[in-house]
Amino acid sequence: MVNNNPIGLFDSGVGGTSIWKEIHALLPHENTIYLADSKNAPYGQKSKEEIIALSKKNTEFLLNKNAKIIVVACNTATTNAIKELRAYYKVPFIGIEPAIKPAANNSETHTIGVLATKGTLSSELFNQTVLNYPNTKIIEQIGYGLVSLIEEGNIESKEMTQLLHDYLNPMVKENIDYLVLGCSHYPYLIPQIKKILPNHIKIIDSGEAVARQTKIILSDKVGLSDMKKSKQLFYTNSNPIVLKNLIGGKYTILEENF
Ligand code: DGL
Repeated sequence: MVNNNPIGLFDSGVGGTSIWKEIHALLPHENTIYLADSKNAPYGQKSKEEIIALSKKNTEFLLNKNAKIIVVACNTATTNAIKELRAYYKVPFIGIEPAIKPAANNSETHTIGVLATKGTLSSELFNQTVLNYPNTKIIEQIGYGLVSLIEEGNIESKEMTQLLHDYLNPMVKENIDYLVLGCSHYPYLIPQIKKILPNHIKIIDSGEAVARQTKIILSDKVGLSDMKKSKQLFYTNSNPIVLKNLIGGKYTILEENF
C-alpha cells in the first residue's frame, strides 16, 4: 500500500523533535510535518480540558496539511487526550507514554524512577499503567521547570543542573537501576543526566518504540511512501531559533500564528 501524504507530529514545543529524529531515521523516505506549539508550552501544568483543546487544534492543523497519521510526540498530550482524539477523528494516532514496561521488567533492584510532567504523572492512563507493576517500586518525580528551560534554549544552564540534581539524587538514594524519561523534551538532557547518575543506572525513553510502532501502522493500515526524496517541514508559533538549534540548520522552519 502506497501513501505519499506526510506523517504529522505535534508537541507542546521543541521536545517532540526527539521523537521526530527516531521516526526520520527509521523512515527516511517519508514526508513529515512537525508542529511545535511552543507558544502554549508547557502543557504539563495545564488542565486535562485545556490539553484536549490544544491537542485538537494541533491535530486539525496537521489534518489540513493532509497528514496520513498523527504522532502525538508528547507524553502529556497522549496521557490526557489521546482517547478523546481517537474518538473524534478518523485518522490513526500514535501516542507516547513513559516506558515503564521495559524498565520494570528488567530492573534488578525492583525500583525504577520516572521523570515526567505533572500532567502525565497525574493522568488516569499513567496511573492505570502503574497498577500493572505491583512488584516494582516506582519513584515518580515531576520535572518542574525543565520543559521551560529547554524551550528557552537553556539546556546547559546552572539552573538546569541544579534542578536535575534535586530531582535525581533522591532516586539514586532509593536505589533505582532504571530512569524512565517520561517527557519527549527530556532526551535532550541525557548528557547532563549521565553526569549525575552513577553508571549502572540505565536511562530509557520511548522514541525508538514509537518509531517502530509508526512503521507498523503505516505498513499495515495507512501505506508507506514510495518517494525517492522526502521533505521535512517544521512549523512553530514561537522562537524558531531554539527549534533550529535542536534539529540542525538544513530543514525548513515556518513561523505561523496557530
Ligand atoms: N514534551 C511534552 C511531554 O512529552 C512536554 C509537556 C509540557 O509541555 O509540559 O510531556
